[in-house]
Amino acid sequence: MEQQHSGSITVNVASARQFRIPPGPTESYSSAEDLFCWIIENFGLYGDIYRASVVGTEVYVISAPEYCERILRLNWQNYARKGQVVKRIALLLGNGLIASNGEFWANQRRMMQPAFSKNSISGMVEMIASINNELLDKWRQAAKRHEAVNVTRDVSSMVLKITLVAIFGDDYNVVAPHFNVLAEESARNLEFARSFSPLRKIILEVIAQRRRDNRAAATDILGKLMQARDRERGQPMPDAQLSKEVMTLVVAGHETSAGLLNWLWYLLSQHPRSRDKLSAELDRLPWPAVPTMDSFPKYAYTRKVIDEALRLYPPLWLMTRKAINDDHLGEFFVPAGTEIYISPYLIQRSPQLWEEPDDFDPDRMSPSGSYDRHELAMCPFGAGPRNCIGEQFARLEIQIHLIMFAKELVLRYDEQKLPEISTGMNLLSKHDIIMRPEIRGQ
Ligand code: HEM
Repeated sequence: MEQQHSGSITVNVASARQFRIPPGPTESYSSAEDLFCWIIENFGLYGDIYRASVVGTEVYVISAPEYCERILRLNWQNYARKGQVVKRIALLLGNGLIASNGEFWANQRRMMQPAFSKNSISGMVEMIASINNELLDKWRQAAKRHEAVNVTRDVSSMVLKITLVAIFGDDYNVVAPHFNVLAEESARNLEFARSFSPLRKIILEVIAQRRRDNRAAATDILGKLMQARDRERGQPMPDAQLSKEVMTLVVAGHETSAGLLNWLWYLLSQHPRSRDKLSAELDRLPWPAVPTMDSFPKYAYTRKVIDEALRLYPPLWLMTRKAINDDHLGEFFVPAGTEIYISPYLIQRSPQLWEEPDDFDPDRMSPSGSYDRHELAMCPFGAGPRNCIGEQFARLEIQIHLIMFAKELVLRYDEQKLPEISTGMNLLSKHDIIMRPEIRGQ
């Protein structure tokens, strides 16, 4: 069959007659550069689909929601594998839900999904509120003493505690001292990966102890995963796999939500009008002594504030896939083996999709402002079968935090320097964000 070369991609001419290869930089990306900055720079030059060579791999960087829809939803099975980037995650977390593929992934997802259903999550509202109360008290005291707080560290420790209690329930005190490394160390390198082996051992010990104590049916996430059964064979997950899934949930659930709250406080400090609107909503709506899942839908502006923060600072800034067979995206040909990069950050700040995309304007999230926008113009939790399993849980903890804290406190950012972005696995602030809490109305 006739073949033709375009850049370093070989195009099967017969199957690609009416398609073409997207434009892109001739120089390949080298790992010495910051991938985040490099991707943004080339988006500015080549637009919402471009091809590039990234450390020897052919990559298409996609920011058109229509193409993302094909990759993540319509033809997702052709892109069921994740790209090279996931190898680093697999090194850290093993073959858990984020890194696994194919039938194995589908089976694991089926077994894990019930632990994240609305029903399961609704039992966690009180626990999340109570852990928030501990930090609220600390920040209240700091406000009274006119002291600053380390927002980055404090929300990180709080979200870690919520994640661990949600997963381990009454065994929180057994695991907590070992897992604190996650809130203390932000590097996600090989050395950090090594510190994970002892954590897996701790999880295996907790599982064994639960069986000895006849506590295998606990109602926390670990309990639900221990009770889950494979649909075909009726078998439980092997313990080694269970520990990998639990590690995956801790890491995926902690840094993402904590990162978002960190940026959220910074954004509110820079936009007093939005903050005042939020305060007005919180003053109008009483926060129940015992909140439930039904307490939240009425906080409409609160939700818009959260969505707008997720738009500007999507914690998981890059999703990757690999084309199994040849495909096409509009007029462009996708040869088998091409890796696809989809960055919610690029899409959600695209000037083609959003007016004044870098501005913080929660009101744009109203239905009237978004009716003509593609659904995937917002995709902070991904889309399709591999979307975020923890979205409802994350939204719940972020809402509870914002409602409880913004009702009582205003956080001031006194630094002259704007916080810089640091992108590893997640979109974090390069340096800790330090702010001064004030009690509202004083
Ligand atoms: C603001 C918070 C969060 C954000 C923005 C977020 C974002 C995402 C995104 C974009 C994906 C899709 C990745 C891809 O398609 O390659 C994903 C997957 C995933 N997330 Fe989240 N996430 C958050 C919180 C959580 C929480 C709280 C948990 C669990 C406790 C969690 C667990 C997972 C897992 C296990 C996957 C892999 C799902 C699969 O492949 O089947 N995430 N997340």
